[in-house]
Amino acid sequence: MSVPPPPEPIAGARLLFSLDPAVSHLNHGSFGAVPIVAQRAQQRLRDEMEADPLRFFTQGLVDRIAHTRRHLAGFLGADPEGAALTTNATTGAAVVLQSLGLRSGDEVLTTDHGYGAVAYSIRRECRRTGATHRVLRVPLTATDDEVVQIVRDGLRPGRTRLLVVDQLTSATARLFPVAAIVGVAGEHGVPVLVDAAHAPGMLPASVRSIGADFWVGNLHKWGYAPRGTAVLVVSAPWRDRIEPLVVSWEQDSGFPARLEWQATSDYTAWLSAPAGLYTLRSLGVDRVRAHNAGLAAYGQRVVGDALGVPPADLPDPGGPTVAMRLVPLPAGLATTLDGARALQSRMAERLAAQVAVTTWDGRGWLRLCGQVYNVPEEYQRLAVGLPGLLAQR
Ligand SMILES: Cc1ncc(COP(=O)(O)O)c(C=O)c1O
Repeated sequence: MSVPPPPEPIAGARLLFSLDPAVSHLNHGSFGAVPIVAQRAQQRLRDEMEADPLRFFTQGLVDRIAHTRRHLAGFLGADPEGAALTTNATTGAAVVLQSLGLRSGDEVLTTDHGYGAVAYSIRRECRRTGATHRVLRVPLTATDDEVVQIVRDGLRPGRTRLLVVDQLTSATARLFPVAAIVGVAGEHGVPVLVDAAHAPGMLPASVRSIGADFWVGNLHKWGYAPRGTAVLVVSAPWRDRIEPLVVSWEQDSGFPARLEWQATSDYTAWLSAPAGLYTLRSLGVDRVRAHNAGLAAYGQRVVGDALGVPPADLPDPGGPTVAMRLVPLPAGLATTLDGARALQSRMAERLAAQVAVTTWDGRGWLRLCGQVYNVPEEYQRLAVGLPGLLAQR
């Protein structure tokens, strides 16, 4: 079967990262990869911190954090007044959940594409408060209109205190029509948290255009920031009500300082995040997005072909810049989280390929990413080695 050509590689881009050249790194989506420029920026900040810790923490750090926050909010198209830096999407979601004041009889609504760690957080908050977690089933092939309809039918106004919806899902690499979903929920007075863990750097939609009550996105995935960098955006009516997980000295300063100041901690990842964006901008944001999405699509076809999956059975993520694509695994493989993790380790050990293996709806999937440091040969090598590996169950 003929596979469309891959995009033109971005020459030299791999040299911007410290990745082991002996490994195919096809899973940027899980933990990202930090360009050397941003690593160095963070190291310089750590050197400064260690040269005089008292001066670093007490003279100007709050202003430097605010400056970084404004810069990142500008990149995301978010209202800088409504943005707060946080460490990751999981933390941002937990902050929102515990600020809701849930009570017995309330419910938190999600889809069955939601991120596992966030679902744990929802369930714990529900156990603590007597609220319930209800999950809407959304078929992988549902159109955007169908997704919106499923959400519309699933809302229970007066009872649904929060809808959590992912902008780009993790296990299923599916773009959700979040702006339309926020619109429908808003008609029924239901606040929405958009889990946009993968959006910054990959997806062009501005946070403002989505209009959610809460939005959280990681800069440490597709935004090339050092790990521990995320932005939580909160709509004006909620800003005075949102509480940090850990109360510290900025508690009386209101939003966002009370969320950001998390006691003695290493704030250097946040401060060096602009160096990650600098790398992305130097390569050309649009060029990187088109390249990564094109390469992921190419990889999906090459690996899908090797596993005998017809192109029509390869899920379409639903957007031109989505740089993660699924390939269904043969039935019976990776049907549980443990099974998926075991297969992922075997691929790393035997094929020198880091690839996400996900489990959803009782079946296993490969999730292939495209990034500037990847080349078509990496997907081709995986396609050659994978059928033999999968045959040795
Ligand atoms: C949709 C989604 N939400 C949340 C997360 C968690 O991100 P983090 O570990 O940075 O909190 C991920 C990570 O991949 C994700 O895909």
